[in-house]
Amino acid sequence: MAILNIVKIGDPVLRKTSRPIDKITDRIRLLAADMIETMHEADGAGLAAPQVGVLRRMVVIETEDEITYVMINPEIIERCGRQRNVEGCLSVPGEWGVTDRPETVTVKYTDLDGKEQTLSGSELLARAICHELDHLDGKLFIDGALMLDENEISQLRRGEFDAQAKVDATEGDKYEQ
Ligand code: NI
Repeated sequence: MAILNIVKIGDPVLRKTSRPIDKITDRIRLLAADMIETMHEADGAGLAAPQVGVLRRMVVIETEDEITYVMINPEIIERCGRQRNVEGCLSVPGEWGVTDRPETVTVKYTDLDGKEQTLSGSELLARAICHELDHLDGKLFIDGALMLDENEISQLRRGEFDAQAKVDATEGDKYEQ
């Protein structure tokens, strides 16, 4: 296995649409193993194949309980509710933003054994699923996020940042204009 280079923002590969995987080959299995190792090394909660320069529809996600999922050709089949919380991305180092995501999602995917699976996730897992799947369509969290300034990033590091307060303040500004 190997640690792969994570592509950073500005590289056009991050804006391309990834192709479906039609056959799970040894190469795909090796890529999955390398992506998991790379995600762990970078201390991330997820990684999508285009982030390592491979335009194929595969993501790896690790939950707070340290369960690792490899999702091939994933597709969100159900979205419920709404959450506003902070996201970052290994391809956008040092930046954080408040995103608007469903509270719960159900994703359908193929696992490394070629079996169809479905998984429902809430909160952080729902955000991770949405975030990683967006990468497969060339989307980045910064596209729709309220980005944090330096002061807010310091608050976030101290565990004092209030995402909802930022949303409320921003929506308040909208009405004042
Ligand atoms: Ni990302």
